[in-house]
Amino acid sequence: MKGMIIQLSRNLSRAAPLFIRSLHSRSRPASTSTSKLVAKHPLTSEEIYAKEDKYGAHNYHPLPVALERGQGIYVWDVEGNCYYDFLSAYSAVNQGHCHPKIIAALTEQASKLTLTSRAFYNNVLGAYEEYITTLFGYDKVLPMNTGVEAGETGCKLARRWAYNVKGVPQNKAKIVFANGNFWGRTMAAISSSTDPSCYEGFGPYMPGFELVPYNDIPSLEKALQDPHVAAFMMEPIQGEAGVLVPDQGYLTKVRELCTKYNVLWIADEVQTGLARTGRRLAVDHEEVRPDVVLLGKALSGGVFPVSAVLCDDEVMLTIKPGEHGSTYGGNPVACQVAIAALQVMEEEKLSENALKMGEILRTELGKLPKDIVTTVRGKGLLNAIVIKETKDYDAWKVCLRLRDNGLLAKPTHGDIIRFAPPLIIKEHELRKCVEIIQRTVLSF
Ligand SMILES: Cc1ncc(COP(=O)(O)O)c(C=O)c1O
Repeated sequence: MKGMIIQLSRNLSRAAPLFIRSLHSRSRPASTSTSKLVAKHPLTSEEIYAKEDKYGAHNYHPLPVALERGQGIYVWDVEGNCYYDFLSAYSAVNQGHCHPKIIAALTEQASKLTLTSRAFYNNVLGAYEEYITTLFGYDKVLPMNTGVEAGETGCKLARRWAYNVKGVPQNKAKIVFANGNFWGRTMAAISSSTDPSCYEGFGPYMPGFELVPYNDIPSLEKALQDPHVAAFMMEPIQGEAGVLVPDQGYLTKVRELCTKYNVLWIADEVQTGLARTGRRLAVDHEEVRPDVVLLGKALSGGVFPVSAVLCDDEVMLTIKPGEHGSTYGGNPVACQVAIAALQVMEEEKLSENALKMGEILRTELGKLPKDIVTTVRGKGLLNAIVIKETKDYDAWKVCLRLRDNGLLAKPTHGDIIRFAPPLIIKEHELRKCVEIIQRTVLSF
């Protein structure tokens, strides 16, 4: 792929229109107006790949498709080709692309008041706080922006609670994570990671983090017996690890152990939450209540970063004014967008639909030949298949051919493909997608 991009940019430099060539020239005076650099014609997909390759950091490896429009479950590339979106921006677009109610909330508030910072009150934050805490049944919310900031906030709350309430000696608090966890890219998040591509070469790491195997209750119990443990932070289904669904009863046991050892249970529902797995929260499948819930991604319906941390007063009020925050956290646009995104989730019964469509999807994917698709797993509309790699094909090649057949999905860990369409997908649409997946897999 990398070779392909380089090749593309080489071809491009031969065929490039004048304005691109001037952009490449290093002798251009620093004062040249950047407005002159704006393209005079819509860029082709290949020009877009080349531009990103030349000017952007190489910290992603996108599937070669350049999108310019999205509506509901569909996205269109710059050449006008239409695709089913089976990634939903890693579950941020649960409500579908450009949901009219969410976009209306965005544009209406954006033309009135966008940002006050938390130096002043605004007339939307309190209403949002009341709405989200009532919906999820927690005393308080702390608004942030990205998912990883919600995770950082959860860790800070846990440490502070450990010192102020549990009585852990200063600077001795520990947070336990599960192997295979993923909660973002900050220094703290990578310090808990077991994936070398996340942490290698970025040390030294955050102290006070411990790891236990996922879905392993005896190991967890052993770790929680340490009186310095403040929290166990985990995903109810591990998304980035490849949609790993723990055994039925695991979450109930986690709750019991955290209560027994006076440890906070932090559920990272950034990817699994907000109807994705067929319930409002993935923990609802076992009807258990974490002490701290992290939300993000679909909290804005894919409009821009909005995240939240929910917990009760005993934990939340350990942080006092000036001890944590964010310039954009709780801004009026985010609050209106989040209210609309949550209302859409409720009004359109996205959980019920995700549950029903997920059953159909897994039943149909289960019929694929086992010598190519060795595993189908997931809950609701958070699903994955495992592709048996051969010299002729792997998950990346399957995704390229899915793209050619009109469906976008992304491989992970070399052999896993996640299938997570927007939760508004209807049965006849899902069956068309299943037909594309079947046709594609059988073509290998
Ligand atoms: C479970 C989980 N937590 C946290 C994050 C981080 O979210 P963000 O990328 O918005 O920081 C992710 C992102 O994929 C995630 O899957």
